Order: sequence, then C-alpha cells, then structure tokens
Amino acid sequence: MTITTLGVPSVPHRIDGAPSSHAPATGPLVDSYGRIATDLRVSLTDRCNLRCTYCMPAVGLPWLGAEQLLRTDEIVRLLGIAVTRLGITKVRFTGGEPLLAKHLEDVVAFTATLQPRPEITLTTNGVLLAERAASLARAGLNRVNVSLDSVDETSFAAISRRHRLADVLSGLEAADRAGLRPVKVNAVLDPRTGLDDVVPLMRYCLRHDFQLRIIEQMPLDAGHQWRRADAVTAGDVLAQLRRHGFALEPDPVARGASPAELWRITDTATGSTGMVGLIASVSHPFCSTCNRVRLTADGQLRSCLFANEETDLRGLLRGDANDAAVEAAWRTAMWGKPAGHGINDPDFVQPRRPMSAIGG
Ligand code: 5AD
Ligand code: SF4
Repeated sequence: MTITTLGVPSVPHRIDGAPSSHAPATGPLVDSYGRIATDLRVSLTDRCNLRCTYCMPAVGLPWLGAEQLLRTDEIVRLLGIAVTRLGITKVRFTGGEPLLAKHLEDVVAFTATLQPRPEITLTTNGVLLAERAASLARAGLNRVNVSLDSVDETSFAAISRRHRLADVLSGLEAADRAGLRPVKVNAVLDPRTGLDDVVPLMRYCLRHDFQLRIIEQMPLDAGHQWRRADAVTAGDVLAQLRRHGFALEPDPVARGASPAELWRITDTATGSTGMVGLIASVSHPFCSTCNRVRLTADGQLRSCLFANEETDLRGLLRGDANDAAVEAAWRTAMWGKPAGHGINDPDFVQPRRPMSAIGG
C-alpha cells in the first residue's frame, strides 16, 4: 500500500534567475532553491541517558568535551542573531538528550525574551521530564515532542537498552499537566517489533489525547547498520492500523512545511478519535519544503540533517567575529543547502555524525 502524498515534490527546483554564487545579505534566510529557513534546531548536548539501537551503540559514543560545547553566553548570542537578524520564528531544543543540559531553563527563558518572540519547543526522550515540565513551562517553553517507540516494557527496553518506560510515561503526563500542549509523541518503529508496538502505542496516545507521529527510520545510526529493506514504511503503518480496527482518512488541512502527513483516526472498538502523523522521510521525502537549519552542541551549523559540510560558528564567536560576520557566514552556509537527503540515490553516503550528535 502507498500513502497519499499531498502534491509535495521531493526535490526542489532552483529559483529562476537566482544568482547561484552568493546569498542575499539581508532578508529571510534563503537557500539557492528558494526555500526559506525559519525553524532552528539547537542541540544542547550530544549525551544521552538512553541507547536507542537506531541512534547509538550500546557503549555510547566519545562525548564532546566541556570546552568543545557552546557555553550559555555563546548559545544566547547565536539565538539572538538567528531571531533578530535572520528571521527565525521557531526554536526547538534537542540533543542527544536536552534534559541532561542543566542550563535548559535559562536558555529557554532567554529565548522567550527575544522579539519577535519565537515559538519554543523541545524534543526529549522524556526520561527526566516529570521533574522539569513545570519549570520549563514557567521559563516559556510552549510545547514538547517526546520520543517513545513502544509502550511495551520489553520492547521499550530492547530498543532503548534501558528500563525507563515508566519514567517516560510520567514525563508525558507531567508535560500535559504543565500545559505543554499539544503533546506530541515521536515514534521510530523497530524493524522487528514495530508493527506490533504501534497498535498499543496508538491506543495509549488516543487515550491521553497525545498526537502520535510515526517517523520512518533514516540512515543516521552510529553503527551504519541501516538497511532499506528492513525499515517499516509509513504505508506499512497505515495498513497495520487499518487491520487492527482503526479507521483513517487524510486530514484536509494543507501540510505546509510540516513533514507529517496528518490523518484523522478513529478506534472503531472504542469510538475514540484523534490525529496521527506519518513522517515518510525515506519513502516520500519532503526536502522540497524543508524550512529547517540545525546548530550542533559544538557550534557547527548544518543546513541539512544529511549535509556533509558544516560551518564553524563557534570558531567565529571565539575568534571575536562581530554579529554581522556571524550573520554573513550563516547566510552563506544556508545558501549552500543541498536539494535533498539523497537517501534514495545509488551514490548516497551516510553522514559521519549520528543523529545524537546532530540533533533531531
Ligand atoms: N531515523 C529517524 N528518526 C530518528 N531519531 C533518532 N534517530 C533516528 C533515525 N535514525 C528520532 C528520535 C527522536 C528525534 C530526535 O529523532 O526518535 O524522536
Ligand atoms: Fe538518546 Fe534520542 Fe538517540 Fe534514543 S534516539 S539514544 S533517546 S538521542
């Protein structure tokens, strides 16, 4: 079965008449294909307290040293440049696991003072969320996306290599109570157990009014073990949900730059209704509408998850560059954003950094 795609070409066409050699010095943060980046993802650490098989090896990775990480004052300065000079309207904090960063509330509170105030969100594994959801909401966090691949304890532990399911569920419920809504749950399905996991996960999310978003696994694992043939596709998920008594129809609202195709879902056994998002990053790439840019925890700018080039903003900050110079370097980096991830090309090369060192 294939899923409906809402007319989004997977690779953008270069904008007519655009000078191909350099970025405009002012205005929105545009690339040479005419896409405008408004969504900045800031990784606060490469460390994590889980070891998901599709992301990290069991033993972890060689972590960045303290002097390599951006300091709070450096992050704050880059956020200011992003919002006031480059037109960023949405900031998402991520990792590794961003709740391992002690300064998260301070960084969120600073971000909330910027004008125009950006929307502030967090992608977390939820393990440590229960104790910080309320303080984060007070600091100005608007919403959370919690990564949760299974509500079955055995599956959860097999995927994440840790027994922390109960903590994640408490974290999700605390986020809801703190008003960090709509609470979204991001699931990457395991090739072996994913189709079994998705049915109880869907029921759990409907019961709590959380929006489940199922993300196709991408080749961003530290071990470079990803195999296309193993991956669960959005089409497989749709078929599985229908087999288990869920009625689904595409949501008519245009998806815009959102990677998720939204479906209205009804559990015909209980009558409960909600929304589920399918993020078909591999089977139906959405690179042509991508509006994202990423900053790694060590201050490297990446115009694409799969980029092989990075721009060293930390080096500029520590070399006494002024804001205008940082802005210019950022614009040049974005201008060079690749057309797409190329996962489906025969000569695709997986990026050197795994997901945990880039930031979802
Ligand atoms: N493919 C797709 N999504 C991934 N994530 C981590 N690794 C991968 C991968 N290889 C997801 C996490 C989290 C977000 C930061 O990225 O599950 O939801
Ligand atoms: Fe940690 Fe997220 Fe990677 Fe899992 S996917 S190991 S939660 S960084």
